[in-house]
Amino acid sequence: MSTATLQKTNGKSSAARPKQGKLPSAKAKIAKAKDERIDAKSPSPGRTDSFPIEQNIIGGRMVASASGETLPVIAPGDGNVFAEIASGTAEDISRAVTAARRAFEGGWGRLTAIERGRLLLKLSQAVLDYASDLAALESRDTGKPISQGKADVTALARYLEYYGSAADKLHGETIPFLNTHLVSILRVPHGVTGHIIPWNYPVQIFGRSVGAALAAGNACVVKPAEDASLSILKVARLALEVGFPEGAMNIVTGLGRTAGASLAGHPGVDFISFTGSPQTGTFIQSAAAQNHVGVTLELGGKSAQVVFADADLESLMPVVVNAIIQNGGQTCSAGSRLLIERSAYERVVEAVGKRFAALRAGPPERDLELGPMINAAQKRRVETYLAAASEDHLETVASGTIVKDAPKGGYYVPPTLIGQAPATHKIVQEEVFGPVLTATTFDDEADAIRLANGTPYGLVAGVWSRDAKRSLRVARKMRAGQVFVNSYGAGGGIELPFGGFGRSGHGREKGFEGLREFTTTQTLVMAHG
Ligand code: NAI
Ligand code: MG
Repeated sequence: MSTATLQKTNGKSSAARPKQGKLPSAKAKIAKAKDERIDAKSPSPGRTDSFPIEQNIIGGRMVASASGETLPVIAPGDGNVFAEIASGTAEDISRAVTAARRAFEGGWGRLTAIERGRLLLKLSQAVLDYASDLAALESRDTGKPISQGKADVTALARYLEYYGSAADKLHGETIPFLNTHLVSILRVPHGVTGHIIPWNYPVQIFGRSVGAALAAGNACVVKPAEDASLSILKVARLALEVGFPEGAMNIVTGLGRTAGASLAGHPGVDFISFTGSPQTGTFIQSAAAQNHVGVTLELGGKSAQVVFADADLESLMPVVVNAIIQNGGQTCSAGSRLLIERSAYERVVEAVGKRFAALRAGPPERDLELGPMINAAQKRRVETYLAAASEDHLETVASGTIVKDAPKGGYYVPPTLIGQAPATHKIVQEEVFGPVLTATTFDDEADAIRLANGTPYGLVAGVWSRDAKRSLRVARKMRAGQVFVNSYGAGGGIELPFGGFGRSGHGREKGFEGLREFTTTQTLVMAHG
């Protein structure tokens, strides 16, 4: 937005009514964000009157929060405030749900699947056109090394391409019934879908959930994470620029306990998609249950990499290390437990340890192996787990470094490999959500399976062995939504259904499964006898 339309929302000045502004061009917005990055003078937290304020996007218009309140946007790289976002309220959520319903019953709902698909493809192209600016913004807001920001933005474009191309290929079926009746099973959208998004992969999770929901014909209300809303706001502006009807995609930023809780419990929402912590997942499902609507919950994991002694060490090494340090380990599918056959333990741990010792955490723009954690609480969380390991005398095999010039106010933690970790220890049982890998030995296949399945989670598993039959036997015993043999993650796998067992949640995202999740069926019975 230009300075002229910038609303002062730091005091009571705009509390009475949300002010509406004309939508500035996405190009101008992104260019502005870039300038601000360059000009920012690292102001101290709390001083919020001179920062760009990003408003909500409701019914195709930019609007301040109904309360006029804002939240500071902090760069994890240095801990400084560099923007503000609207602090959305129940009222904002209600307006967004109303706008989405209107779109669903109006302009958006009238489009054909082909037209919806084309809009998603246009948005995909627009995301690619602005990829480097979006990546830089994402990197600053989340602390991701810049190349990880780029990978996320590229993945978003790919999700939009995948679901845009799939919109007109999702179809129902007919069922043989009485000879006098024709039965069609229609695949229909839920209606208004709510999307509560975490801060770890904002644009990727937006792509897989909002992309699929829109392709299926739903109108969306999105609540990004308070720690990472900027990129999603930009993408929503791009969506309006490429011609999405107003209200098809509404964004309300704000806190989980206010904006998020209001969305989860809103009676006008027909389906909720949530990615985040198990605790919040429980809350979301309970809130949705009051309205008897479905939820997809993607709640993280404690995923195991099972390494047999005959595994190809050279090929597994970079994959195993990357699976825990990508995004600083703040990844639901992080491979956070290394289970190694006893006879190979020393050899594997030594090789992994060498790699860990060479890892560096530093400012996102330096594009090292790791950036900072997302916020002070997440840094404390990781440090608390490391302290517990040290109190219990677990062995630190190796740790990487925090580069010397990393700003003191940033949220950096050293990547750490813990050896001979007892399977019952909390650092092996609980999701750290940081760059901490534990190594534990196993004796045979049965032991490996027992340990791999021995946490309440069940998101992803990796099996490494040159014995094809054994890999397959073990893989099929894994209680996890995705299992990789002699690989892990497969570059995000937009096409591959993804989701959990147990405490990792339920429902599936990505691929066609993810698209179906945003639909329900309607059985149409037509008598002609
Ligand atoms: P969180 O689950 O509280 O936050 C995720 C999203 O839910 C955010 O948009 C937040 O505003 C929203 N939210 C929070 N409370 C809510 C409520 N009562 N009603 C509706 N929405 C609500 O996760 P948080 O606190 O950011 O991180 C804590 C831990 O959660 C992490 O350390 C990690 O272990 C796990 N986590 C897992 C993620 C995953 O990808 N599975 C992503 C983020 C966090
Ligand atoms: Mg941030």
